[in-house]
Amino acid sequence: MRIGILTGGGDCPGINAVIRAVAIRAWKKGVDVVGVKDGWAGLLGDPQTMHITSDIIGGILPRGGTILGTSRINPLKRENGMGEVIRALSLLGIDALVAIGGDDTLSVAYELHKREGKVVGVPKTIDNDLCNTDYTFGFDTAVQVVTDYLDRLHTTAESHHRAIVVEVMGRHAGWIAMYSGIAGGADFIMIPEVPFSIEEVCAAVERRRDTRGFSILVVAEGAKPQGKLVTRGEEKDEFGHAILGGVAHVLAREIQEKTGVETRSVVLGHAQRGGTPTAYDRSLASRFGVKVMELVENGEWGKMVSLQGANIGSVDLKDVVGKGKFVDPDFYEVAKTFFS
Ligand code: F6P
Repeated sequence: MRIGILTGGGDCPGINAVIRAVAIRAWKKGVDVVGVKDGWAGLLGDPQTMHITSDIIGGILPRGGTILGTSRINPLKRENGMGEVIRALSLLGIDALVAIGGDDTLSVAYELHKREGKVVGVPKTIDNDLCNTDYTFGFDTAVQVVTDYLDRLHTTAESHHRAIVVEVMGRHAGWIAMYSGIAGGADFIMIPEVPFSIEEVCAAVERRRDTRGFSILVVAEGAKPQGKLVTRGEEKDEFGHAILGGVAHVLAREIQEKTGVETRSVVLGHAQRGGTPTAYDRSLASRFGVKVMELVENGEWGKMVSLQGANIGSVDLKDVVGKGKFVDPDFYEVAKTFFS
């Protein structure tokens, strides 16, 4: 038997741990492993692959990113794109495909499953916005990166008596903002799921000015001041996503104008996706890799491995793709306990 692995969408720490776990489990069962390069792009046109050997996976457990490369190429945006994918898998002698990705990548995997493709999924995104899994690997690392930045930004904000608005990733869901905001002692957290007014943000900044003399505010890139997304222009990727970024700059200008408090903005951007995975993400990713190979061995196609409490289980891709997982109001109310 030969399996293929592909990694699609935004990279994140932990992907290589999945690849390593899949390969080690596969080899124990006498299964050959082929890496598909650059996500779904590697199965369009002339297939782009690499043979996965023990030398290839040596040392990748703590390495961020993906040794296979990734892309946001969408076969469904190409004439007969899925036909090319199916043809490439046949040409490569790949009997089953492991797709590591977020909602976009796994939505293509689901399309492949509907076309009788033997495919299984592993949930991957720093955004943690895939439903039917308690966490996705990459999320814990992103939260730790942001929290470390927030700790550092406290000292400079305090020294200058400033408000600092920190923009974090999270296109549709504010999970990174929520967990890092709480862990990093944010005085206000803004997320896509909960409407907010600039007035309430400014009131918090003024309360902090009159008490501790500085404030740290965390905003998810997908949060909508006055209900409007802040994007970097009109460009969209092949899955229709706008390129978000800059909401922190918009808010910082308004805060300074309305309160007179000297305000700065910081966009953490792709630093949240870089570097080595935390221990939690390495172990979660490794457990996902073993479980997804069990699905392959048992012929359970069209499923995604998932964290369910402390256990690793699986769910149907049809119950995941296109749905999302969003911060609930009760959790936001808990976070408000700590707002200034
Ligand atoms: O999907 C994960 C993510 O990091 C989002 O949080 C972010 O908006 C997006 O990817 C950035 O995409 P790109 O790396 O293509 O700019």
